[in-house]
Amino acid sequence: MLTYPEKFRPVTDRMKREVVEDLPELMDVRDEKLRNLAIEGWALAISGSSFGRISEIPGDGNPGIMVLKRGTQDIHLRGVARIAVQMVDHFAEFFPEADIDRDVVLAGALCHDIGKAWECDPVNQKRWHDDPTKVGKPSLRHPVYGAHICLMAGLPEEIAHIAVAHSPEGDTVKRSLECIVVHQADVAWWTIAAVGGLIVEDTFIPSMTRHFLPRPNRNESRRAAE
Ligand SMILES: [Fe+2]
Repeated sequence: MLTYPEKFRPVTDRMKREVVEDLPELMDVRDEKLRNLAIEGWALAISGSSFGRISEIPGDGNPGIMVLKRGTQDIHLRGVARIAVQMVDHFAEFFPEADIDRDVVLAGALCHDIGKAWECDPVNQKRWHDDPTKVGKPSLRHPVYGAHICLMAGLPEEIAHIAVAHSPEGDTVKRSLECIVVHQADVAWWTIAAVGGLIVEDTFIPSMTRHFLPRPNRNESRRAAE
């Protein structure tokens, strides 16, 4: 029987250092234990993949779908984390009675696509493409594998919930408030990227883009004017 990953590479200090280099916002997670577990979680995800670091993961929403014209997965994760934290800080300033856990939102946003180390892995993609009848295509989408990695790494249930339910998988459950914030930030990020001309058009998800026409981005407008 074929299984993958056959084994996880050992998690090294270098891997953890590169996780923080790629996602510097991790250092803003105030709870030290949560911060270290998020770093461990990403290092574990990378160690079970053929990627060397997060910034090697393509910037796709799903493999081949919502494909960024430029930029890798780290930029998406950082963007979602920054947008999500801004939402929390807004409510904390004007409605401090709203009980939203900023650390869970930040760590959850930075880990929400942790399973893309699996779903976007070219080794997995090739296996699933070569024989889609064997284990499915994909066998596990990134939200499901992401929740698995979170729990394996010892991250709290709140973060695993954000990993599994930030996406349409979450439509089958009641999302937590922190998951709602990350989900909305994620949808906002992809929608603005699509309408702003940053996504390859024939990879659009109709549900996210049918109400908009993309505006050419500045690089394209400049080229067209030359
Ligand atoms: Fe995402």
